[in-house]
Amino acid sequence: MGNLRSLMLTWAIATAVEASEPNWFQTVPDNYAGPTPTGAAPFLAEVNPAPFGQATYIPNAPLETSEPIAGANGRNIFHLMGDLSPYFSPSEGFGVDEYPLPKGASIGHMHMLQRHGARYPSAEEGLGAWAAGIVNSGAVFTGELEFLNDWTYKLGEEILVPQGRQELFDSGILNFYNYGHLYDNSSKIVVRTTLQSRMLESCENFLAGFFGLNWKKHANILAVIDPAVTGDEACTKAGETMLAAMEEPVGTWTETYLKDRTAKLQRLAGDYNWTVTDTSHAQALCPYEAISLGYSPFCQLFDYQEWQGYEYMQDIEFASMAGFLNPTGRAQGIYWVEEFLARVEGHFVDVPANTSGVNMTLDTNPVTFPLNQSLYLEFTHDANIVSVLTAFGLTQFADFLPATGPPKNQQFVTSKLVPFAGRLNIEIITAPHKVSTRRSRKISSDDYVPGTGKAQYVHFIQNQRTIPLHASFKECEYREDGWCELETFLKVQKQSLANAEYPYACFGNWTMKEYGAARDGVPV
Ligand SMILES: *[C@@H]1O[C@H](CO)[C@@H](O)[C@H](O)[C@H]1NC(C)=O
Ligand SMILES: *[C@@H]1O[C@H](CO)[C@@H](O)[C@H](O)[C@H]1NC(C)=O
Ligand SMILES: *[C@@H]1O[C@H](CO)[C@@H](O)[C@H](O)[C@H]1NC(C)=O
Ligand SMILES: *[C@@H]1O[C@H](CO)[C@@H](O)[C@H](O)[C@H]1NC(C)=O
Ligand SMILES: *[C@@H]1O[C@H](CO)[C@@H](O)[C@H](O)[C@H]1NC(C)=O
Ligand SMILES: *[C@@H]1O[C@H](CO)[C@@H](O)[C@H](O)[C@H]1NC(C)=O
Repeated sequence: MGNLRSLMLTWAIATAVEASEPNWFQTVPDNYAGPTPTGAAPFLAEVNPAPFGQATYIPNAPLETSEPIAGANGRNIFHLMGDLSPYFSPSEGFGVDEYPLPKGASIGHMHMLQRHGARYPSAEEGLGAWAAGIVNSGAVFTGELEFLNDWTYKLGEEILVPQGRQELFDSGILNFYNYGHLYDNSSKIVVRTTLQSRMLESCENFLAGFFGLNWKKHANILAVIDPAVTGDEACTKAGETMLAAMEEPVGTWTETYLKDRTAKLQRLAGDYNWTVTDTSHAQALCPYEAISLGYSPFCQLFDYQEWQGYEYMQDIEFASMAGFLNPTGRAQGIYWVEEFLARVEGHFVDVPANTSGVNMTLDTNPVTFPLNQSLYLEFTHDANIVSVLTAFGLTQFADFLPATGPPKNQQFVTSKLVPFAGRLNIEIITAPHKVSTRRSRKISSDDYVPGTGKAQYVHFIQNQRTIPLHASFKECEYREDGWCELETFLKVQKQSLANAEYPYACFGNWTMKEYGAARDGVPV
């Protein structure tokens, strides 16, 4: 009897604890994984045409990317695929060089926002339906399109492909080499992602790279339902304008840059009425087949200039969907800016409810919003990263992108910002003295300004290249290393919430103007 009573008591306490505090870190079973159809297993060894009739053979690593592309002259078209580019670090950077930390300086915190890895297309992209139309058309394709006569569609939907798994595993390893020391192994850290299959698996693959296969000993995954910002406070107008804003300019540019190619392919399509939409789907199949199957015959249908055109199409798409050219661009990303500021300042998010998209239930609970970590690792989507850069006010990336063609000195380039597994690392640096704005190339004490005291800096790194903060904020003095004094940066960011105009941008009674009217990420 006594035993039973104590058992009941234990159960009652356990239930009470459970009721007040859910098991935040449970990710199995996952009822919110989203679509998960897998594709055909690749057989690259059997179908790989390399070395493409040429003498030089370049082994696949793991993708076969050595296809001869007209006009490429050794340049890589896989860096011109916008958000479908396999991960790469842009060799030309964002305007400044990298410098070593001066002697005695240290990195105290790192905040990371990491995109998922390479994935299959979503059903909405229409590639499966397009393929069915081609296969059932009965048309006889000739010349460069001849391969379509016995081609079949082999892709799944939405989930990570092997290349995506590798990108996140590699990022985990890279980030461990860079920041492993910041992990205090006496306690687990909380990392954040969503329950969508590719998001959860990206997080897990990263952690396997970062900690090894025993990562569960070191990290708890807080996975929310995708999209992370939902409910009554989610930005209604963003949902309404993200696609609407890009349709017209993307359509106009696509008609322009694919016009000649469409005319050429039309002549190879027999009875099939080949339009610019077909050309555009054929081009998208190059990155998707390459990451899914290792190689795609679609890539060679286009010359280098048409790949530059494809990148620019993606640049217009992301700038107008989630960047400064969308009237809700700042509002979409302000939640993460507020979370970052709260962590740096060491307090819970304390903005008024319904003004930022922040989930106040999660962000005022120390279990789900810890403030004592040195590493903050978070996983997200391409558009979120773009909107976060926008909400910070990084106007370096606010250039207008005409639907008629690229501007000179274009800064907003989707593949440089959010390729698959693209990432933002923000370092908080502490130095014993102010660091000179002119930097030396070697680790030394000579970089300090004599007679000055302790100083802190913030350093933004996108895909392993520094984003110079002085390029966007006049308050941040020009520095060769692109850092900004933390105090100055925080002062600037005090305005970010107001600048995002969340209540008006998300719930206001405004109508969308023509493309190019919005240039600052808020409604005009
Ligand atoms: C934590 O790190 C210390 C020093 O590297 C090591 O001795 C210890 O075994 C580690 N503990 C765990 C739980 O990994
Ligand atoms: C906040 O997150 C929790 C846990 O994921 C969820 O149950 C709740 O609906 C979210 N609230 C809002 C307003 O999105
Ligand atoms: C947030 O504000 C908008 C506009 O005033 C309103 O429609 C919405 O219901 C609010 N959400 C909450 C959770 O109060
Ligand atoms: C081919 O498609 C275009 C665009 O949909 C259409 O305008 C045109 O009439 C079609 N041509 C034929 C011969 O069906
Ligand atoms: C942070 O504080 C919580 C609550 O005291 C504790 O459980 C956790 O281990 C701490 N985390 C770190 C990284 O110190
Ligand atoms: C929204 O604005 C339009 C155009 O100015 C106006 O006709 C309409 O009445 C407004 N709706 C509300 C709910 O204020």
